[in-house]
Amino acid sequence: MLPLLQSNGIIAGRYRLKRELARGGMGTLWVAFDLERRRSVALKFIHPTAAQRDEAHVRFEREARAAARICSANVVETFDYLVDDGQAFLVMELLEGEDLGALLAREGHLTLAHTAKLLVQIARGLGAVHAASIIHRDVKPGNIFLSRAAGEITVKLIDFGAARLASRHEPRPTEPGAIIGTLHYMAPEQALGDVELDHRVDLWATAVILYRLLTGERPFHGATVSELIRSICSSRVTAPSLLAPSLPASIDAFFVRAFARCRDDRFASALELSNAFSAAAACARPPRRRMAMMSLRLADIAAEAATVGHLRVPG
Ligand SMILES: Nc1ncnc2c1ncn2[C@@H]1O[C@H](COP(=O)(O)OP(=O)(O)O)[C@@H](O)[C@H]1O
Ligand SMILES: [Mg+2]
Repeated sequence: MLPLLQSNGIIAGRYRLKRELARGGMGTLWVAFDLERRRSVALKFIHPTAAQRDEAHVRFEREARAAARICSANVVETFDYLVDDGQAFLVMELLEGEDLGALLAREGHLTLAHTAKLLVQIARGLGAVHAASIIHRDVKPGNIFLSRAAGEITVKLIDFGAARLASRHEPRPTEPGAIIGTLHYMAPEQALGDVELDHRVDLWATAVILYRLLTGERPFHGATVSELIRSICSSRVTAPSLLAPSLPASIDAFFVRAFARCRDDRFASALELSNAFSAAAACARPPRRRMAMMSLRLADIAAEAATVGHLRVPG
């Protein structure tokens, strides 16, 4: 499949292929060794059908240009975009770890505190993407990587294959109204094929992820594409606290705003969304175990104080 394999597995005279990492609908990820810089890298190849080739190359090159303009610890670093023997590929930093989709599949759902922690980093990454006037347009668990390095987990946004410059003058290689991205995570205006999209589609998608992380469920449902679009456009979701009773009402209120049908009624920026979520999460009552420990400590303090006569303990 890869023409480059004909040349001893070395592409562009520089990258030695080591092993396949992942295979998606449009492309394949490989681990390779950069012979010039003496480091391992990730290569992303696209394999469009002949009919799609031109458009796919334009999109792919745009992915590279978009990603290369963003500088953030929470966005994967893209080093290069090359074409060798007609085969286009991206050169990226190699991340160790797993994507959020894999974690979600394993865990089912995450705690409020864990979710809030991840969101802070997702929002930092998205903030940098949006500051570069880029809309990611395909924010979903599979495109959020949990990179493990030196015992720390850092969230990295990946896959700028659907990204677009926020400027209206950016030439669009796809037909106006063409839907790119994953339907379950799409904002109403995106699912309806509205061409005047802005960064708020990424914020909607982030809220869909948060809902899934907290409840283990998707907020919008449909057996067919049109049913799903209707569900998204209805802006009605089951209150997360009904699915996960430990969640506070403030989290329900957060989602009312995040899933407002009209984007002007939603959060205006990734930072605003993240701050609102942190504030809502702070309203959560501490879990029972911590409450028990707190009252134990209080009892200790009270007993000690009573001994030295500082505090009168009722009862
Ligand atoms: N730089 C990277 N380092 C390590 N793994 C990666 C890297 N980029 C992507 N991956 C893994 O490969 C999967 C597919 O990559 P992605 O860029 O999302 O391609 P696709 O367009 O097929 O969705 C990701 O979900 C992630 O698990
Ligand atoms: Mg992807």
